[in-house]
Amino acid sequence: MKKDFIDTNDFTKEELLDIAQLSLAIKKAINNGYYPPLMKNKNLGMIFQQSSTRTRVSFETAMAQMGGHAQYLGPGMIQLGGHETIGDTGKVLSKLLDVVMARVIEHKTVVELADAASIPVINGMSDYNHPTQEIGDLCTILENLPAGKKLEDCKVVFVGDGTQVCASLGFICTKMGMHFVHYGPKDNQLLEVHKKIMEENCKVSGGTWEVTDDRESVHGADFIYTDVWYGLYENETPKEIRVKQFEGYQVNRDLMQLGNIGCKFMHCLPCTRGEDVTDEVADSAASLCWEEAGNRLTAMRGLLVYFTRHFKKEPTELQIAAAKEELDSFLAERIDK
Ligand code: CP
Repeated sequence: MKKDFIDTNDFTKEELLDIAQLSLAIKKAINNGYYPPLMKNKNLGMIFQQSSTRTRVSFETAMAQMGGHAQYLGPGMIQLGGHETIGDTGKVLSKLLDVVMARVIEHKTVVELADAASIPVINGMSDYNHPTQEIGDLCTILENLPAGKKLEDCKVVFVGDGTQVCASLGFICTKMGMHFVHYGPKDNQLLEVHKKIMEENCKVSGGTWEVTDDRESVHGADFIYTDVWYGLYENETPKEIRVKQFEGYQVNRDLMQLGNIGCKFMHCLPCTRGEDVTDEVADSAASLCWEEAGNRLTAMRGLLVYFTRHFKKEPTELQIAAAKEELDSFLAERIDK
């Protein structure tokens, strides 16, 4: 199994379902009052090259709830990619921490960091994908399956810009054998690289994918998902032009009515109310976006436990007792005498 969680395409459907089911099992335990000390004495380093609400807060809360500690390493706070190379940072952090998460501007940064690190590295979003969001969204979909349907029966339509969140949703849906559509304007659709991966996933899973600007493709959706239209990248097209490009792609009552009866609305958040989604939809009974934000925490707990547990086995009670005896005898003979 891979040491790092950089891309869900590195994992099988079964492994990803294990991570989601573990996340949901920990959620259930905590909701019932048991906080499992599964990250006791463990330290997480949280590298952020960009700002974040959900990713940052959910990782930090997850560590605290499970007995561990998280260190926030925000933009400009550590020597990442200055005169110290990214690889050297990875090697150093491996001596100081148990696990690292990194939200990076360029995908190659998190890949380089993971390759050099000897501890697990979790991708907290790059310009290519957002895999922790994928696990949270999978949990949300599993908890909200339409009556009588399995994952494989569901149609998920992403509306709007082919962002990294759109690509990630396409990856996880096709991995699970679901039916994925990206409905977006021609110049802002998923690229050949994404289509190739979705095609490979579908060959294994039996899922389907479509990338189109045809509004008819929204018909029969069980889940309609969107993301913001601007503000994600440096040097992007001015806001006024972007808003014009996405005219007609707002998720509103009319668009939601194209979906199946009981169709749910999803959004990774933050949203731009009145642009990518109306208040009416975001705050409706069909909206899962707030539950989805809560399931970022669900996913982070599962991911932290899964990767640290696979990476390093916990010492036995006997090993702990022997280590204590050795240290106690050193203190007694050399320090406290
Ligand atoms: N959805 C998401 O990743 O939110 P943040 O940017 O606030 O972490």
